[in-house]
Amino acid sequence: MPTPAAPPTVALDEIDLSDMEFWTGPRDVREAAFRTLRDTPGFIHFDERVIEDSPFPPGAGYLALTRHADIWAVSRNPTLFCSGQGSNIGDLPQEMNEFFGSMINMDDPKHYRLRSIVSKGFTPKEVARVEEMIVDKARTIIDRLEESFPDRTCDFVEHVAAALPLEIICDMMGIPPEDYARVLAWTNTILGVGDPEFVTSYEELMAHSLEMFVYAQALGEDRRASPRDDITSVLMAAEVDGEQLTPQEFGSFFILLVVAGNETTRTAISHGMKALTDHPDQRALLQADFATHARTAVEEIVRYATPVIHFRRTATEDTEIDGHPVAADTKVVMFYNSGNRDERVFDDPDRFDVTRPLQPAQVGFGAGGPHFCLGANLARREISVMFEALLDHLPNMRIVDEPVYLQSNFINGIKRMQCAWD
Ligand code: HEM
Repeated sequence: MPTPAAPPTVALDEIDLSDMEFWTGPRDVREAAFRTLRDTPGFIHFDERVIEDSPFPPGAGYLALTRHADIWAVSRNPTLFCSGQGSNIGDLPQEMNEFFGSMINMDDPKHYRLRSIVSKGFTPKEVARVEEMIVDKARTIIDRLEESFPDRTCDFVEHVAAALPLEIICDMMGIPPEDYARVLAWTNTILGVGDPEFVTSYEELMAHSLEMFVYAQALGEDRRASPRDDITSVLMAAEVDGEQLTPQEFGSFFILLVVAGNETTRTAISHGMKALTDHPDQRALLQADFATHARTAVEEIVRYATPVIHFRRTATEDTEIDGHPVAADTKVVMFYNSGNRDERVFDDPDRFDVTRPLQPAQVGFGAGGPHFCLGANLARREISVMFEALLDHLPNMRIVDEPVYLQSNFINGIKRMQCAWD
C-alpha cells in the first residue's frame, strides 16, 4: 500500500497572515503554517496591509493568537481585551464600527443593553417557534431540488446550503419572500470583501450597506407602528430599563444579524456535505443512527469548517497572555480555525469524526464570553435538520467536483460546488 504523502511544513519566516495570497493558496500549506505558529512560543506580530481602494490607512499590526487556550482566555476577559475598538483587523472610525458591526463592536454597558434587548428574539421559546419552520423549509428545499433538477445535479451552495439560513432569517425578521434575493446580494457584498466576484469597489460596499440599513430602518419603523408575528416586532417593542431600540440601532443590528445568520450557516452546511462525501465511513455512521450522533456531528462540522476565521480584540492596558507581555492598545486576533485544529486540545485534529466528544469545546461560535454567537442554537438546529433531511430523502447525495472557495481571510466560504444524487 502506498504511504500517504507527508504533510508540508512551513518555516516561520515564510508566513504572512496579512498576505491575501496566503489565504488563496493551497489549504494544506495554510494548515501547516498555523501548525508552525502554534508551535512557536509567544505570539507573532504581523503588519497590516494597505487595502486597495479603502480611505482608511493600515493600522499598527496585530498579534496572532493561534492556540486554543490563548483564544479561550482572551475571549473570556472583555475587561482586558475589548471589542469596542473594532472586531475586524482594520481600524474604522467608531461610528462606522457601530454602523457595520452593531453590538459585535461594543463593550459594556452598551453591549449589555443591546444584547439584553435582542436576546428576546432568541429565547428558547422563539427558537422552538422556528423549529417547525426549519423542518418545513428543509423539506421544501429538497422537493424543489427534485422538481427543478431532473438530471439530479446542481450547485449545492446556491440551491441547498444558502437557501435554508437565508429563508429562515428572513422569515424570522418578517422580510417578504420577494425581497430574499436582495438580502442575499447585500450579505454577499458585505462578507465578500476581498473577493472581486462580490465587491468591485469600496463605494459599492458602502452603497449596498446603506441600502440595507435604509431597508431595515423602514422595516423596524413599520413593525413598531403595527406589530406582527416576527422578531422584528419583538425587538422593536422590547425595553431594557425603560429604553427601546432606536430605528438606527435596529438598522445596524439587522445588518449584523442577517449577515451573521446567513453566510456562516451556509458555509457550515457546505463544508459539512463536502466532509461527509470525503469521509464515507463517517457518513455511514451518521446515516445509520442520526439521532445518536446528531449533536456531536453538528459540533464537528462547525469545528472542521470553522466558518468564521477570526475576530479581533484590543488590549485595554499593559497585560500578558500566557505569561507573554502584551502592551496596551495592541490588537490581538483570535484565529478560530487554528484553535479548532490545536493538537494540544483535540486528538488527531485533522480527522473528521462525527463522534468526537463535545469537550473540549470547539471555538467555531467563539470561545465564550459576552460576544459568544447569539445564533449558535439556531445554527445548530438548521445544520442538524438540513443533514437529517438530506440523508433521509437523498441518501446518496454527494459533492462531485472541487469547491470554489471565497477569497477571504475572514469567512471560510465556498462559492460553488456541484452535487449529484441518484
Ligand atoms: C455556523 C453558523 C455560525 C457561526 C460559525 C457563527 C460564528 C460566530 C462567531 C465566531 C461570533 C463571534 C463570537 C465572539 O466574538 O466571541 C458570532 C457572533 C454573533 N453571531 Fe454567530 N455564527 C453562526 C450563526 C449565527 C446565526 C444563525 C445568527 C443569527 C441569526 C448569528 C448571530 C450572531 C450575532 C448577533 C453575533 C454577535 C454577538 C455579540 O456581539 O454579542 N450567528 N458568531
